[in-house]
Amino acid sequence: MNHQDREDPLFRSLELVAMTLPNRVLMAPLTRSRSSQPGDIPNELNALYYRQRASAGLIISEATQISPQGKGYAFTPGIYSHEQVLGWRKVTDAVHAAGGRILAQLWHVGRISHPALQPDGALPVAPSAIKPKAQTYISADSGMVEIPEPRALEIGEIPGIVMQYRQAAENAKAAGFDGVEIHAANGYLIDQFLRSGSNRRSDDYGGSAENRCRLALEITEAVIEVWGHERVGIRVSPSGSFNDMHDDDPVETYGVLARGLDRLGIAFIEVVEDSFQGNEAVGRPEQVIDTIRSSYKGRYIANGGYTADEARQRIDAGRADAVTFGRLFIANPDLPQRLAQHAPLDKWDDSTFYGGNEQGYTDYPTLEEVGKRAT
Ligand code: PHB
Repeated sequence: MNHQDREDPLFRSLELVAMTLPNRVLMAPLTRSRSSQPGDIPNELNALYYRQRASAGLIISEATQISPQGKGYAFTPGIYSHEQVLGWRKVTDAVHAAGGRILAQLWHVGRISHPALQPDGALPVAPSAIKPKAQTYISADSGMVEIPEPRALEIGEIPGIVMQYRQAAENAKAAGFDGVEIHAANGYLIDQFLRSGSNRRSDDYGGSAENRCRLALEITEAVIEVWGHERVGIRVSPSGSFNDMHDDDPVETYGVLARGLDRLGIAFIEVVEDSFQGNEAVGRPEQVIDTIRSSYKGRYIANGGYTADEARQRIDAGRADAVTFGRLFIANPDLPQRLAQHAPLDKWDDSTFYGGNEQGYTDYPTLEEVGKRAT
């Protein structure tokens, strides 16, 4: 069978971020830690990697720091300097030339950083001075290190952080992206504000769920001012424990957030539904998913170790509009074609996920290349 099965739910087109996506096999944001140094600048190799994956219905870029303070790992790219914007332009041009679509994922890591990565060796910042039981990767020599206790942000610093998101959204436009996804998942800054385990503030940004959601919603508003509500999405991970995260009442927290996002009218919520690196959550958090689905009328994008058949069922049942695939896209640059043809899938090598060169990055073959090698 060589043609795409029109009855396959993965290949129904989808209106999303003011575009018509040809399929619902989306590429998840994936940290690959291969930007050029110094300056955390996207390069030709990164452009090749994304271009190879341009048949995704939509690509969401790897997490990209909005400021030097927002950096938490060696070699991740930024989107605050002129050189970085020019580097991203190579990526977006390559994806568009290959017929694809790509959003920038805007990232501030908050406490998941280290003085070795921060301007002037400063402490990382967070809603509250709570040391996470987590590690970060600071350099090829030092590798993974313990994260120190962060400094709690003064309330007067918060408008400046919102401004950094706004500026990064402007930069994403200048770099030729088709829209942006706000990273509010996996224990980074916005998530640290959202969830009770990392937020002990007693001002307008802590305490009640409304207050904990305030930063996320202010950032979303600022980004909408740049892009319009149709070209903005957000990623959340309501049950994730990665980076030492916890919330006393995720149904309440994410209900408040979803209602706020619904009022703002953004294009989609992408939900990391299952485990991510050491997350203890078992299964998918159906109660939170139901709450988000009933509180928010935009598109729902599911993520989290989905197989193609699980994704088909989820979309067919109306439980998700699309699914993002991470590791499968690392190992299968032509993933949509393979899924359409029910072709075999390549296995990923997790030793080459982070850092390094083209090995385990741009050297995974397409089906066609496998065919050529065999002959
Ligand atoms: C990571 O670099 O380990 C990382 C980055 C972004 C995420 C999750 C993990 O959302």
